[in-house]
Amino acid sequence: MLAQSRQPIRRADGVPVFHDFLTYRRDPLQFWSSTGEIAPVCRIRWGPSLEYWVLTDPDFMQHVLQTRVKNYVRERRLMHLNRMGGPELMFNTDKWDEWLWRRRLMQPAFPRNEIVGFCQTFTDQAASLAAQWRDGVAVDVVHEMKTLTMRVIGKTMFSVDIDTDVAGFQESFEATSQLVFERASSIVPLPLWLPTPNNRTVKHLMSVRTRTLSKIVSERAQNGPQGDLLDMLIGAKLEENGKQFSAEQLVGEMSGIVFAGHETTALTMAWLFYLLSQHPHVEQTLRAEIAQALQGRMPTLADLPNMPYTECVINEVLRLYPPVYVTIREADEADTFADYDIAKGTRFILNIRGLHRSAQHWHRPAEFDPTRFLPENSQKRHKWAFMPFLGGPKKCLGDVFAMLEMQLVVPTILQRYRLRYTGTTPPKEAPSFVMHPAAGIRMRLEAILQN
Ligand code: HEM
Repeated sequence: MLAQSRQPIRRADGVPVFHDFLTYRRDPLQFWSSTGEIAPVCRIRWGPSLEYWVLTDPDFMQHVLQTRVKNYVRERRLMHLNRMGGPELMFNTDKWDEWLWRRRLMQPAFPRNEIVGFCQTFTDQAASLAAQWRDGVAVDVVHEMKTLTMRVIGKTMFSVDIDTDVAGFQESFEATSQLVFERASSIVPLPLWLPTPNNRTVKHLMSVRTRTLSKIVSERAQNGPQGDLLDMLIGAKLEENGKQFSAEQLVGEMSGIVFAGHETTALTMAWLFYLLSQHPHVEQTLRAEIAQALQGRMPTLADLPNMPYTECVINEVLRLYPPVYVTIREADEADTFADYDIAKGTRFILNIRGLHRSAQHWHRPAEFDPTRFLPENSQKRHKWAFMPFLGGPKKCLGDVFAMLEMQLVVPTILQRYRLRYTGTTPPKEAPSFVMHPAAGIRMRLEAILQN
């Protein structure tokens, strides 16, 4: 007998014409969670023509991201929106060779040995931020962490003190990400040339960003090479005839790395400080580990093996609040997985957050419990049940960088301050291109007296 081809279960609470779109718009986060709960492979529709398969099944996700990775390209609709009317930039491409070329170009900026050299920058920048803080003052930790991680990217990737004080520079990343998200979350996205107030603001912020990054490039031309990512981008040969990135492309590539490298890490650390303030027992255990391992010193790479709980806490934050909460792919050619027939052009939403909170893979998934990441508690878990950095060849290029940065910054700050949440209700989450707290996270700083 021939095997029956299966179709994913269809989410069926929508209305005619819009289908599931209005439910999604009302509460995108709840929409992804509930879709994951309906079925690990679920079909949704936005409007008359857009259909997605939402995956919360780790085996299927592994098939898309690893086994048949070449067949599952960036979704072209999102790719075009991401381009914002400009040229094809960074990793925003559906062509395997183009992606591989860029990955190989940038990889040397992330070798494990080089990252060891970055560790001093992580702790220096954290200590210098903490030195500016004052006891009793309330700060938005999201903003503080973004400033810190952006300075780290400036130092490690471009060898400069990036000008985080330029009005509009930091905001430009949030604004473009919000605009792409809004356009991707529309059935018919408004064109960028329309002079809406939002389009005009984004255009202005983009020009601030271009000026700030172009200045770094022109200073490099005067000061000579530094052996960093910027040199690799400037020296990249695009074709056999030796053509190089245009000024516009260079700024686009730099923008991409600042975006990928600062917001994700900053948001994770901001959630971490908030969660510690709500879970005194976890904070106590973490502080005890840090005190024991460091005896009041600044942390170094060599200390990390003695701080396993710190890594568990970071992983648990990434599980509950993965900054990249969904990602989208498209089948380039027809394919099969298990008994599903996948037509060419099928669109997939990989529901990372849904998977991280799925009761099928996690015991009491809503609880903040870092001990679930201890080796003895991780053995029975599906290898792909936790994927804040994705998996397979297109996994985050900065995963080791980000983990080391957080493992060193968090103890450096906790040695100097206790952070207390000033709100009375939990921070509300707002989905954008990455998930972030809707109105920052305000926390009061309590200085710790050092001997
Ligand atoms: C907590 C921190 C971070 C998280 C959760 C994270 C997550 C991710 C995820 C999920 C992707 C894949 C997106 C997709 O293909 O749809 C990605 C890609 C990428 N990330 Fe990260 N990231 C983090 C930090 C960083 C840092 C610090 C850097 C650089 C310094 C970085 C550089 C990149 C680059 C260049 C890519 C594109 C890789 C490719 O397409 O081959 N990320 N990241």
